[in-house]
Amino acid sequence: MTSLNFLFFSPTLLIIIILSSTPNFSCASLEEVNALLKWKASLEIPNNSFLSSWLPLPMNSNASVPCTSWFGVVCNAGGSIQRLNLSSSSLKGTLHQFSFSMLHSLTHFDLSVNNFSGPIPPEIRLLTKLVYLDFSENKFSGVIPPEIGNMNQLTILYLYSNNISGSIPIELGNLKSLTDIQVAYNQLNGSIPSSLANLKNLHTLYLHEINYPVPFLLNLEIWSLLLILR
Ligand SMILES: *[C@@H]1O[C@H](CO)[C@@H](O)[C@H](O)[C@H]1NC(C)=O
Ligand SMILES: *[C@@H]1O[C@H](CO)[C@@H](O)[C@H](O)[C@H]1NC(C)=O
Ligand SMILES: *[C@@H]1O[C@H](CO)[C@@H](O)[C@H](O)[C@H]1NC(C)=O
Ligand SMILES: *[C@@H]1O[C@H](CO)[C@@H](O)[C@H](O)[C@H]1NC(C)=O
Ligand SMILES: *[C@@H]1O[C@H](CO)[C@@H](O)[C@H](O)[C@H]1NC(C)=O
Ligand SMILES: *[C@@H]1O[C@H](CO)[C@@H](O)[C@H](O)[C@H]1NC(C)=O
Repeated sequence: MTSLNFLFFSPTLLIIIILSSTPNFSCASLEEVNALLKWKASLEIPNNSFLSSWLPLPMNSNASVPCTSWFGVVCNAGGSIQRLNLSSSSLKGTLHQFSFSMLHSLTHFDLSVNNFSGPIPPEIRLLTKLVYLDFSENKFSGVIPPEIGNMNQLTILYLYSNNISGSIPIELGNLKSLTDIQVAYNQLNGSIPSSLANLKNLHTLYLHEINYPVPFLLNLEIWSLLLILR
């Protein structure tokens, strides 16, 4: 899907991309590499971790090294980091040192099944290309940042099995591409925002211990929704 979209970029867009990326192609990549290394330094990592493949690049080395040999990292054709998958890597830490602004090319971000804690920073809104977000099975706390409502491409949102409180933000109703929201097993309260009725592509909403208001139930038929309640 994503790669198809890439092929069908309009000529104008293509020109802009060429103009803006040619002069310091490797510099942009290098900034992403350094951003990831800074975040890595803030994490507790087991000694035998696959993350030991994330090493500082030697002087004058090829900035595309992380694209080919760093665990969990996949780059796009332009050399920017597009996917980050550190699922089940026994990692402990927070997102405080994660540079969302540098890693704005991410389309897939998977930190599931680790020991991440602390809040999901509002800066996550800078990941405007993100399609797939999986922070499930960690210890994230705080609220679901309403800024997630800016991530227009988001299709999958997995936050289940954390320690997230507050309610489901109304702003999720802006995310027209969402097909799957799984937020069960947190400390969420409140009701389901009626804005979710805007999500015509939504087929799975996985909740747990939330109060279900009548307007939401009325919308069920319209959405042909698969609602998993435990
Ligand atoms: C990890 O390596 C450090 C330094 O080599 C060592 O001090 C520490 O005991 C090791 N930890 C474990 C859990 O093996
Ligand atoms: C960097 O590596 C890529 C792929 O391995 C290669 O195509 C490119 O020419 C290299 N660039 C430099 C400056 O060595
Ligand atoms: C991340 O890796 C795990 C394990 O290899 C896999 O099950 C999962 O689908 C991957 N996530 C993404 C977004 O590709
Ligand atoms: C989280 O940390 C605890 C305590 O160190 C450990 O027992 C558990 O296996 C870790 N969980 C994951 C998913 O790494
Ligand atoms: C869950 O978050 C609250 C703060 O919102 C904190 O007091 C509590 O210790 C957290 N629980 C766990 C198991 O992390
Ligand atoms: C929902 O949780 C928040 C913070 O966790 C709390 O301040 C609020 O009173 C709770 N609301 C209800 C209706 O329980």
